[in-house]
Amino acid sequence: MPEKKEVPPEIKKEIESLVKVLNYHSYRYYVLDSPVITDEEYDRLYRSLMQLEEKYGYILPETPTRRVGAAPLEKFAKVRHTVPMLSLDNAFSHDELREFDRRIKRLLEQEEDIEYTVEPKYDGLAMELTYEGGLLARASTRGDGFEGEDVTLNIKALRSIPIKIEADGSIPQVIDIRGEVYMDLEEFKKLNRRREETGEPSFANPRNAAAGSIRQLDPSVTAERRLFLACYGLGAAKGIEFKSHSGFMDWLRGKRFPVPAMLEKAKGIDGVLKAVGKIEQKRESFGFEIDGAVIKVDDFGLQQKLGSKTREPRWAIAYKFAAHQASTKIKDIRGSVGRTGVITPYAVFEPVRIGGVTVTKSTLHNWDEIKRKDIRIGDTAVVERAGDVIPHVLMVIKEKRTGREKEVPMPERCPACGGEVVREEGEVAVRCVSLSCPVQVQEKIIHFSGRNGMDIEGLGEKNVELLYTKGLIKNFEDIYRLKKEDLLNLPRFAQKSASNMMEAIERSKTPALARFLYSLGIPHVGEYAARLLAKNFSRLEDLYHVTPERLRPIKHMGDKIANSISAFFRDGKNIKTMETLKQAGLRIQNPDFKAAKKQAKLPLEGMTFVITGTLPAPRKEVEEKIEAEGGHASSAISGSTDYLVAGEKPGSKLDKAQELGVKTISYEELLKLIKASPGNPTLF
Ligand code: IVH
Repeated sequence: MPEKKEVPPEIKKEIESLVKVLNYHSYRYYVLDSPVITDEEYDRLYRSLMQLEEKYGYILPETPTRRVGAAPLEKFAKVRHTVPMLSLDNAFSHDELREFDRRIKRLLEQEEDIEYTVEPKYDGLAMELTYEGGLLARASTRGDGFEGEDVTLNIKALRSIPIKIEADGSIPQVIDIRGEVYMDLEEFKKLNRRREETGEPSFANPRNAAAGSIRQLDPSVTAERRLFLACYGLGAAKGIEFKSHSGFMDWLRGKRFPVPAMLEKAKGIDGVLKAVGKIEQKRESFGFEIDGAVIKVDDFGLQQKLGSKTREPRWAIAYKFAAHQASTKIKDIRGSVGRTGVITPYAVFEPVRIGGVTVTKSTLHNWDEIKRKDIRIGDTAVVERAGDVIPHVLMVIKEKRTGREKEVPMPERCPACGGEVVREEGEVAVRCVSLSCPVQVQEKIIHFSGRNGMDIEGLGEKNVELLYTKGLIKNFEDIYRLKKEDLLNLPRFAQKSASNMMEAIERSKTPALARFLYSLGIPHVGEYAARLLAKNFSRLEDLYHVTPERLRPIKHMGDKIANSISAFFRDGKNIKTMETLKQAGLRIQNPDFKAAKKQAKLPLEGMTFVITGTLPAPRKEVEEKIEAEGGHASSAISGSTDYLVAGEKPGSKLDKAQELGVKTISYEELLKLIKASPGNPTLF
């Protein structure tokens, strides 16, 4: 994009106002959770801002359009915290809280009740955001408390975090705002479902998921995950002073920072116990995980008097809630086979009630985890069920071992078909590679016909199993060979249900390419990657024999996905399957490609060109090319000309261009401009 010399003041104003309005609505949406405009209205404003920014090159640092899109890093830079980030002392009972209160009173030599604040203890990853002159300059992880990692690019993707502190009143020169990044339970479950689909190991809990998402060298991965921040602390500050924690929280709230969902002021220990009870009562309804409450002396002056020990402040304590845990015996460890052949181990328990639910089994994630935690059949395990998340084994109690426990080796054969298994290098997953593994085949068909795939209503787990065992469907193609009579011969089908199924199959014959690709169950290709493919390839056939080299330049398309797609389309058997499906009447549409094309920026969009001298191609042709690529070809040079394309024997326009500071390029450079543009319409 050429640098524009002057942006008209009214355009500047419009851009500034759009940025303000969009940031306000994003705050309503992400922080307050109470939007006042529709998503479509937001998108419309967003698009007009993007167009203006592109046309005039006037980009404000806090613009919502530049939050994501940075290139992956090699490694994180280290950041030293100006003020160390401390940890918290723990209390596990009301008595320990009382002791904490007594200690504070004793240290302060104070008889009357202390003013405290009580807030949820978020279970995530501690962060420090440093604002300089009101702008987010750095975001760093806690690390060892003294030195963390620079994760600024990733943190920028969290839309609940202001890039700029709103300036009504004075702006602090420097301020370190601390908080916890967390993932809510909904996103956590969605993410794990997606990972299981693509054969990646699932995260054990939302905290690991949040940490894993922030400690990502590729910011685009972070951007795909919905993360939140709750601000709860102050580090170094210059040019601003606060009197109390609650005062600081009020200031943050006023500046549109997300603060803890509950912040109770409490007088004395009785007030604290009441507030703690209130938070514990609400625990299940927050929609994210908390593992306790944090109690802080409110007054900053008193905090300073109390000071800190090496690792924790004396003025705060974490009250840990009883976890939803129980111990039970592991009766067996088995493997379950997914559609990609990944064999995931799970534990079978003696049934145990945890937080009101009976738990009989839980995933063990992968075979490395079993080794790492040294989990054996017969062990007594501590099982945790957090929020409404699936239960998981925290640890086994080794003291309870009798010596009769059995270690479970990684499977050498598939538990479903007895076929061979492999473990790819660098992967934790063990896979069954048999093409005819019945469980795998059934899982593949269930995925194919599932709601996000071909969406064949009625062809779920039970019916797929039935049709498979009766030999009616062994692959995707067989679905389209089914006849109503076949179904009527089966115990579970009557006239009506058989007709319904046949209609559902018929309806599935015009899928969008993105859905179709997703339903094929190509390893590592989830809905997102499938849509990327659909945006970049007009027809299914364009993907046949596609190379990784062709796929890699597509934005967000990692090596692993590119290799997997290419391997899939190189396999003749797969091509045959797709061709057979087409013969069976499948007509694939691709609305995504059309939409993407429409949205795509042409390489020369918004640029004005003037031609002078003799070019290797006829002038008219060059002008047409410029226009076809989205540019504007003008005959008169002026301050708003972006490029002068100069050929042999240039005229007076060359002098004029130099006078006006307009960049002069050759015909070859023009061609390069067209080719090199990031807006190249086939790469999204
Ligand atoms: S205050 C000097 N408030 O808990 C005290 N911490 O176990 C600074 N945490 O490292 C911490 N919610 O990552 C504070 N409302 C909250 C919190 C909170 C979660 C985390 C924080 C800290 C850890 C200590």
